[in-house]
Amino acid sequence: MSERFPIAVLVSGTGTNLQALLDTVHGDEVEIVAVASSVVGVSALARAEQHGVPVGVFERAAYADRAERDEALANWLTERGARLVVLAGYMELLGAPFLDRFPGAVINVHPSLLPAFPGMHAVEQALAYGVKVFGVTVHFVDAGVDSGVVILQGAVELADAREPEEVLAALRPLEHTLLPRAVALFAAGALAVDPENPRRIAIRAGDARTAGE
Ligand code: GRF
Repeated sequence: MSERFPIAVLVSGTGTNLQALLDTVHGDEVEIVAVASSVVGVSALARAEQHGVPVGVFERAAYADRAERDEALANWLTERGARLVVLAGYMELLGAPFLDRFPGAVINVHPSLLPAFPGMHAVEQALAYGVKVFGVTVHFVDAGVDSGVVILQGAVELADAREPEEVLAALRPLEHTLLPRAVALFAAGALAVDPENPRRIAIRAGDARTAGE
């Protein structure tokens, strides 16, 4: 097969989405060449180390400001050769200068059907609103909060849900399927902006193995 597509993953916590990437696409169509955390000692770092993936910690407090942190982070990811940056539970905002270093190549997984419930505590927001259908969005990252172009979405009906833990448990398998699928599609060059609607991503036919629902 052709060379593996080099990606980096940014984390801040448990890292179950990182684990899904390690268990599926890593070593196959992509290689995770770097895992960077905004928080020291989180279990996501241990997951990466168990797979021999180089890790780095970029705590906000260790830098004069966010811009300096972003630059150090972007420099490290570039040195490692990353061509796609995946935010998998990364709890920090990234500024435009960082995004400019990886144009059109930063993606995020968010636990709601965007544009509903962007930002923090998406599941709590959805429960408070009283929705009956919950979901997951994998999207490109732009300078706004969860406002970038949608790549993949999945939904689950939970008409009687009351507790965030119950919803998160139902969403996790969706996240762990959709994020690796989106990464594989990106690596295959199968994602293209629809010329008639730049908000819409077209998935190239012929990539059914990863694109099929
Ligand atoms: C996920 O729910 C993801 O949607 C959100 O942060 C959570 C990360 O979980 N962005 P994990 O660290 O991958 O387990």
